[in-house]
Amino acid sequence: MKENISVLLSEERVLARIGELAEQISRDFAGKELKLICILKGSIFFTTELAKRISLPVKLDFMSVSSYGDKTESSGRVKIVKDLDESVENEHVLVIEDIVDSGRTLSFLLELLKSRRPASLSLCTLLDKPERRVVEVNVDYTGFEIPDEFVVGFGLDYAQRYRALPYVGVLRMDESR
Ligand code: IMP
Ligand code: MG
Repeated sequence: MKENISVLLSEERVLARIGELAEQISRDFAGKELKLICILKGSIFFTTELAKRISLPVKLDFMSVSSYGDKTESSGRVKIVKDLDESVENEHVLVIEDIVDSGRTLSFLLELLKSRRPASLSLCTLLDKPERRVVEVNVDYTGFEIPDEFVVGFGLDYAQRYRALPYVGVLRMDESR
């Protein structure tokens, strides 16, 4: 089976939209310092592009979670593979995600972070597949709403591959070849 990737969002479109999000975030948090929490590994490309464009002092921390379940469906049982290095107490926290799908991973994460008493807690995702939502999640900043297709690139993977593609593409299995 051959994997076939077609461009959904070009690099230019993604970077332009990230610039808009950064402007909006900079306005909304004017006068404050932000703590960006990058959810590894999918959000690394989005986080760095966003952080560079935010015109406020930002700190970065990283968290890695894995959800138990098969490859394409998360179960809601989330394991922390790597926790944050520093406390988020009294910080303005912005969680950066690559994509919100069922919402299970994020609803778990947001509850956990809330219990650590940040000054504020917001969520920014590059992509959102609203049709797939199972658990309600309040997303503050969304790059793009996309249809229910499996996408790769700009940090998103299929079996750890394709993360470094500079665009977002739809992955399809081409069974005819
Ligand atoms: P959720 O808990 O179902 O919202 O799962 C979100 C996670 O599933 C994301 O952080 C991704 O790691 C993964 N995921 C969901 N949809 C896609 C996709 O289309 N491509 C690659 N990874 C995806
Ligand atoms: Mg992920």
